[in-house]
Amino acid sequence: MKGIVLAGGTGTRLHPITLPVSKQLLPVGNKPMIYYPISVLMVAGVQDILLITRPADVPMFRTLLGDGTHLGLNISYAEQPHPRGIAEALIIGADHIGQEHCALVLGDNIFHGTRFGRLLQSETRTMDGCTLFGYRVPDPERYGVGVTDEDGRLIAIEEKPSSPRSDLAITGLYLYDNEAVDIAKNIRPSARGELEITDVNRIYLQRDRAKLVDLGRGFAWLDTGTPESLLQAGQYVSMLEERQGVQIACLEELALRMGFIDAESCHRLGERMAGSGYGRYLMSIARELAS
Ligand code: DAU
Repeated sequence: MKGIVLAGGTGTRLHPITLPVSKQLLPVGNKPMIYYPISVLMVAGVQDILLITRPADVPMFRTLLGDGTHLGLNISYAEQPHPRGIAEALIIGADHIGQEHCALVLGDNIFHGTRFGRLLQSETRTMDGCTLFGYRVPDPERYGVGVTDEDGRLIAIEEKPSSPRSDLAITGLYLYDNEAVDIAKNIRPSARGELEITDVNRIYLQRDRAKLVDLGRGFAWLDTGTPESLLQAGQYVSMLEERQGVQIACLEELALRMGFIDAESCHRLGERMAGSGYGRYLMSIARELAS
């Protein structure tokens, strides 16, 4: 399965912070926002990742992540000059996807929950058509919304409905089979001028090939869209990390745990950042997992 992280957009709700810098490079706790969606792909076992962003931001993402070799990943880059919609990621990423399945994740989505990796690995293995992940929210009108029948089967999907028929928001993580590319190429821009990912998902639903997995309670899906929610997301991450003594979305640690790199390489990555708590954490994890 190929991975795509969509990290473009103008971040208007975070102006002026996002005037000179990509939203997805802003800090959430002690690490850049983009680490969180990348960690989602990694725990799902996806190593071949295309990062799509604004042309001016590509150099900064490259400085941060390079070609991904140090993490046992293959990271390549593509440009989205204008935010023409989330579904455009599937068109920009068509060559990258090739004949494979694809996991698309939005660069500003933060997921945290135990056994998430196991859930994703099982969903990617059994995926047939498309798999979406739902999360119950108090303000569903801000999101794509899924409606399910009493057996939990998806029966309708709406984008930012003014009167939502359910409180199940569709999160920014989408698993697709190879048909997604053709579907995205054939949809038309919505009234707001965007290629809507919800339209892609609705076509899968019409073909009876869309599944919605409710992430359920005990799981966190965090918003980073406004200065307040960004701050809260950072506080949530920092509080958990400090209390539990573990890092969330620590890419080097994940690479080690997933078997993408060995302990020695992880330790070396930590040494380069030994001036920070993050770097020292990497060295201690590497020592722990080596023994
Ligand atoms: O976060 C989940 C929600 O994301 C879904 O529930 C909605 O169905 C989906 O439409 C989307 O809604 P948003 O209103 O949050 O989308 P937004 O335009 O804010 O874009 C989400 C992220 O994707 C943001 O980091 C910017 C990036 N993006 C967006 C568009 C439209 C791009 O990189 N390129 C784009 O063209």
